[in-house]
Amino acid sequence: MKLISDIDSFQMMMDQHRRSGKKISFIPTMGYLHQGHVSLFLKAKEKSDITIASIFVNPSQFGKNEDLSSYPRDISRDYFICERSGIDYIFYPSAGDMYKPGERTSVTVNELSDKLEGEYRPGHFSGVATIVLKLLNIINPDILFLGQKDAQQVVIIKKMMEDLNIKTKMEIVPTYREKNGLAMSSRNTYLTEKEKNEAGVIYKALQYAKDRIVSKEITVADEIKKQMTDIITSGAPDSKVQYVSITDNKNLDMIEDLSKYKGEILISLAVYFGRTRLIDNIIIRN
Ligand code: PAF
Repeated sequence: MKLISDIDSFQMMMDQHRRSGKKISFIPTMGYLHQGHVSLFLKAKEKSDITIASIFVNPSQFGKNEDLSSYPRDISRDYFICERSGIDYIFYPSAGDMYKPGERTSVTVNELSDKLEGEYRPGHFSGVATIVLKLLNIINPDILFLGQKDAQQVVIIKKMMEDLNIKTKMEIVPTYREKNGLAMSSRNTYLTEKEKNEAGVIYKALQYAKDRIVSKEITVADEIKKQMTDIITSGAPDSKVQYVSITDNKNLDMIEDLSKYKGEILISLAVYFGRTRLIDNIIIRN
């Protein structure tokens, strides 16, 4: 495995692999890797000749009051995890190289970026779309692997790739969960043991909603959202639900009457445990 920081040499290596007919898979990450990332790495390895993971804590997707400076980082640990997972290259650029002074360009996927998470994290998805596009341009992979955990990110990147005629295919890997259902995330390291145990209630609420929708027991979205909030706050009294939303999984439009909707339903939410903000989601095919 090679760790490369220099953009030009990395781009040249990727060009060479492509010219020699190798199939390239790419998994973008912000590091502090966990089993969820490993599940993406392993899936990517199955599908390609060369597997690339990028590790880059992208400043442009953090808001002013967010955790950019405290975001967990441990490149030696990440290196070991990548090597053990069979990654061929780690792309590990510096912020100064990825965003050169004087850059004037960013990408925004309009409307989709302002909904759900975007309401609470203005500018976040523009940062995500911009860095993913830059990485795709540098690597030009055959397949991009993303985790379902960041559902809105998936919807937005899919739309960006479609709108900007990017030929790379996309594969979505299911959310990897702790035994109690807590979705794996690098930010889980901020949680105390008690919070970690209690946070399993988020998945319980998502599953409760799924069961009610699939059985058609409840068809009013507001009622499901209210019950989910009750499940979370009674299982984790110190938590604070920021939002629960029930939308379609393409345009992220709110669904009110579930009996009238046909297609993929995305139930997503954000919950604070102390100062840690956790997001999660579930998709139902109606
Ligand atoms: O999901 C993440 O870790 C990030 O948003 C990504 C896709 C690596 C872009 O910085």
